[in-house]
Formats: sequence, structure tokens, C-alpha cells
Amino acid sequence: MSATILDTIGQTPLISISRMNRPEEAQVLFKYERYNPGGSIKDRAALYLVETAEQRGWLKPGGTLIESSSGNFGISLAMIGAAKGYRVIILVDPKTTEANLALIRGFGAEVIVVTEQDDSGSYHKTRIALANKLASEIEGAYRPDQCFNRLNQEAHYQSTAREILEQCPGRPSAFVAAVSTGGQLGGISRFLKTYAPRTQVVGVDAVGSTVFGGQANAYRTPGVGLSWTPVNLSLSNLDYAYKISDEQAFVTARAFARHEGILMGPSSGACALVALKLAQQWGPEHRIVSMVADGGDRYIQTLFNDPWMHSQGFSTTASPADIRGIARRLEPWSASPGECANEQTGLIEALQVPQATLLANAELHLSDTIQVRRPPAAAFLD
Ligand SMILES: Cc1ncc(COP(=O)(O)O)c(C=O)c1O
Repeated sequence: MSATILDTIGQTPLISISRMNRPEEAQVLFKYERYNPGGSIKDRAALYLVETAEQRGWLKPGGTLIESSSGNFGISLAMIGAAKGYRVIILVDPKTTEANLALIRGFGAEVIVVTEQDDSGSYHKTRIALANKLASEIEGAYRPDQCFNRLNQEAHYQSTAREILEQCPGRPSAFVAAVSTGGQLGGISRFLKTYAPRTQVVGVDAVGSTVFGGQANAYRTPGVGLSWTPVNLSLSNLDYAYKISDEQAFVTARAFARHEGILMGPSSGACALVALKLAQQWGPEHRIVSMVADGGDRYIQTLFNDPWMHSQGFSTTASPADIRGIARRLEPWSASPGECANEQTGLIEALQVPQATLLANAELHLSDTIQVRRPPAAAFLD
């Protein structure tokens, strides 16, 4: 039976590791999203957003997709636009790598580089505001709006989270994921708190990002971080929050390639480090699922470029013992993330979030209420 390229999104493997994880510890399992056809977890949310918009009539044949993304979501959307025949415009910033720009353009999308920084020193708000402006000006445009559209986390509630519980032998004792728009962590934590309430949910942010509050500073870990708590994430669904430094994230990702044969990007290195920390605290009857959002081949000019790593002052030779030591010394940023909210009221008005986003969020709010009243699917009962 043949499949289209978009049919191959999802159903990624859950893989074990052998050398970083000791037999007397909890087993670390990676949800390995690199095997999506666009190379990252973002294929899932991008497809869900586009197909929901098609079904609701918000996106019509010949339409234009406009999104703010410095990497993976833009690549996924460009791929989907090429497969379905839409014009795609991606707003990136000067931090976007040449490799990501080449992939976005390779799928035929147009790129706009936004160079104006926002009040936090990043580009999120200026990119989003310009994307919203363009979407209001271009006939037939649709803004998936991964940052404000709660269909983003719904995509992971409907697919990634279910796959994890189907694939994991028994319930995971903990689940670890990084956060930016909050799509993956928001959707999966909501699902786990409903169907596996004893699973601890752990969020990972970059040092310098303020999703869980704290001091804003520049950081280099790609894909992670935001200067506010995203609407896609309910912090009350998290048990712990960690902040991982750029060096820890990059060095761990390098070590997993070198010592386990597993390619992962720096955000996944950050999650893996936290997963190893938790594994050291529990016995072998426990399992810890950690998201690997993308593969390291996307970061060939940074992560796997020794001169670049040295220019940042990062080690290129960390051994499994080094990584295990770094993991052991980690401390959570918060053991009650529900109290760390950094909500910036007024952003929806200030950035002129599109009507279709507000409509989707209102509909989801109604179906959430139905969801709560509906008994959980028997297959997932804890
Ligand atoms: C590599 C990588 N890791 C983690 C994330 C965070 O995922 P989310 O936006 O669903 O919070 C992203 C998002 O861009 C990413 O590209």
C-alpha cells in the first residue's frame, strides 16, 4: 500500500539507550521525532493546524500560509505547503541557521528575515507582529500561529501523547520535554495528567529564557525558550521545571552522538540530561520518557563544528562519566512550576493575534469542558 509523504508523519519509535544509563537505574526511553519526514516533531503540529484550517474553511486551495519560526516549524510548514500546493512565507530572524534557511527555501517557501529585536532582546514578538500584519494584508492568507493557537498543543494531545502511552511498557514514571510555544509539553502533559496521573511531568527551558520566570538573558539553545509563559501550556500540569545552560545542552547532544550513536539537537540534549538525572534517582523498574524533538544533522554548522563549539567555550570531548556527573549535579529550577507563571497580559491585543486563532481557542475551550466530563478512554486508564 502506498502512502503520501504527509501520511508518514507520526508513529515515531521509542528507543532505549545502553551506555549513558546504568542497569541499576530507571530506564531512559527517547521519543525519537527525527523520523518525521520534515525531520522534527513540528511536522505533527504543522499538519494538524493546516488540516484543521482546511476543514474549517479558514484555508482554501491557492491560499498562503504565513508563520513566524526560526527553524523546525518553518521547515515543516514549507514541506506541507509543497506537498499540498500552498504558497508559504516564513518569518525568521538573524539567529536562523543557513541549514534551516536552505531547507525552508528548498521546499519552495519564501523567507523574510526580521532584524528588529523585541523588548526581551529576542525576535519572537517582532516576528509574530509582522506575520500577523502580513496575514491581514494578503488575500487568502492563513496564520497557523503556533505560539497562540491552542490547536498546537491539541495536535500532541491527539497524537504524540497517545503514542507514548501505547509504546511505553507500563506507565512512565516521568516524562521530560523542552518548551517554547508549549505545544508538545502542553498537549502531552494534559493527556498524561488525565490518563496517567502518577507520571511526573518535567518541563525543560534554557537558562536565559523566562517561560518559568527568572532573569532574561541571551541564550543559544535552538528551538527552546520564550519570554513569556505560552498559552499552550498549563504550568499546573507540571511537577518540576529545569533550566539547562547552552553548554550543558550542546555538550550532552554531542555525547549522545559519540557514545550512543543517537543524533539529537541541543534541546534534546537538555531533556536527555534531565532524564538521566531522574534515572539516577529511581530503580530499574521505572521508565522515563524524554522527547528528542529533532536530529543533530540539522546543526552541522554549530553542534558538530568543533571550531564553533570551541568559540563558545564548549567542550567537544565529554565522556559518559562526564555527562552522568553533570546530570547528577543538576537541581530543579522549581518544584512547583504552577507558581512560576510569567504571563504577559495584553500580548494578544498588542501583537494583533488573528481571528482564526481566537476562534480555534474558543472552540477548544468548549470541547475541553466536554473532555473533562467524558470518561477516559479505557485503553489509557491508569
Ligand atoms: C528542536 C526543538 N525542541 C523543542 C522545541 C519546543 O517545542 P514547543 O514549541 O512545542 O514547545 C522546539 C520548538 O521549536 C524545537 O524546534
